[in-house]
Amino acid sequence: MASLQEEVRSRRTFAIISHPDAGKTTLTEKLLLFGGAIRAAGTVKGKKTGKYATSDWMEIEKQRGISVTSSVMQFEYNGYRVNILDTPGHQDFSEDTYRTLMAVDSAVMIIDAAKGIEAQTIKLFKVCRMRGIPIFTFINKLDRQGKPPLELLSELEEVLGIDSYPMNWPIGMGKEFFGIYDRFYHRVEQFRVEEEERFLSLDENGEIIGDHPIKESDLYTQTLEDILLLDEAGNEFSEERVREGTLTPVFFGSALTNFGVQTFLETYLQFAPEPQPRLSDQGEIDPCSDLFSGFVFKIQANMNPAHRDRIAFVRICSGKFNRGMSVTLSRTGKSMKLSQSTQFLADDRSTVDEAVSGDIIGLYDTGTYQIGDTIVEGKKLFHFEKLPQFTPELFVKVSPKNVMKQKSFHKGIQQLVQEGAIQLFRTYRTEEYILGAVGQLQFEVFEHRMKNEYNSEVLMEPMGSKIARWIENEDAVNDSLSSSRSLLVKDRFDRKVFLFENDFALRWFQEKNPDIHLYNPMD
Ligand code: G4P
Repeated sequence: MASLQEEVRSRRTFAIISHPDAGKTTLTEKLLLFGGAIRAAGTVKGKKTGKYATSDWMEIEKQRGISVTSSVMQFEYNGYRVNILDTPGHQDFSEDTYRTLMAVDSAVMIIDAAKGIEAQTIKLFKVCRMRGIPIFTFINKLDRQGKPPLELLSELEEVLGIDSYPMNWPIGMGKEFFGIYDRFYHRVEQFRVEEEERFLSLDENGEIIGDHPIKESDLYTQTLEDILLLDEAGNEFSEERVREGTLTPVFFGSALTNFGVQTFLETYLQFAPEPQPRLSDQGEIDPCSDLFSGFVFKIQANMNPAHRDRIAFVRICSGKFNRGMSVTLSRTGKSMKLSQSTQFLADDRSTVDEAVSGDIIGLYDTGTYQIGDTIVEGKKLFHFEKLPQFTPELFVKVSPKNVMKQKSFHKGIQQLVQEGAIQLFRTYRTEEYILGAVGQLQFEVFEHRMKNEYNSEVLMEPMGSKIARWIENEDAVNDSLSSSRSLLVKDRFDRKVFLFENDFALRWFQEKNPDIHLYNPMD
């Protein structure tokens, strides 16, 4: 039997960040094929097979035909046990998507070679950077014509502000795509050539050993020139900088045709960090220490509409989870047994008996947990670092449909806000309620849960997108600065926040009021 330490060291836990359509689903499917998939919560949304999550997801999901749940998938490869946490895109983008990034040790960023860096990639990248986690880049769809690779690299550096090191380099693209020049393994990997035959060895000068028609081609000459340029003027590879998240190793490939995916996976596993120590109010918690601990990073409500049940997703940060073990919820000091009330993530949501640091477990919850909660084994209680606040971008005014039902309205809002499902703001004087979210879906989930769990129907009046800025020197601000274009509101901790109509209104305000120091908690 492997020791706890060996078990923990074999874990690699990551999320894929990308803009919709860059190829996240396709890459995930290919990765799962390489490894024997062990268990998955939900399924990878298979557009082609039309297969959606196997479990009875909530109503909204059925209505919209999308998967609300961030899936957690696990597979084994070369002795590693890999956890992939899905970060939903499109309409189902929400604060949960950001929070998922709090539970991983590294991220894989997929970029569509034809589109370059897109909006959602930037947002997710920012959150990864806040945590300083390693980011690995996969530039996808090389089987199609895309932007020149050097241009893609400069986009990475200019738009995202991260240095890059291409581990391999495309030889042509689209119709001309021959394969990749692998700088790391020092070989050429040919496109559409099967198995071991696909590799060509290189001599010290990067020349292909033996005869091959490609050697004399302009395409290959161009590649060697590019490589020379990268060697001379590009960044040096530094494992330390990869670990700090300041240098991203870049891989080129094509997920759809399964090209470059295995090479990517093997190199990724070599450099991606194992579960790292986590900061708590009692100092760093060692992932290999014996006592179990973890934190809740996401709560999935209403898996079964007949009950008020939810699943709390817990990232294990130390020790080993055993079914039936006793733990304490640090926030309340209440101890509980994780037994029948515990259901685990699997194909059919069957139970899993053991898990270690780096793994994700789903706890069956009847309202015990809040996002950010720490659970620990043993007498020494502590709290993991608070999850950061994410800046909402979409806002609605909310009020109860039936004014006689104020009580359930307030109770519902209070609990959902506390749970982290949505953010609450109030206007000055009139004390109107404004909800803030990073994705539209959060409003829909809110409305649905208010009705089903709190029996409170709500009226929601969209306010559109706004730029929210908190204020460093709050005393310098009073209500007279509030206008429709720069609305002053309070957050749930009574901190002052401006909601600006757009970028222009924000800049205008800053010019007029240079003494007021605004900030974005995500910067
Ligand atoms: P997402 O999860 O990031 O949203 O992207 P997804 O994997 O669903 O891929 C988006 C589209 O891009 C899909 O096509 C997929 O087949 C295609 N794609 C992914 N990887 C590659 C690649 O390496 N090369 C090429 N040429 N295409 C790729 P679709 O037409 O939108 O969906 P489908 O009808 O083919 O499923």
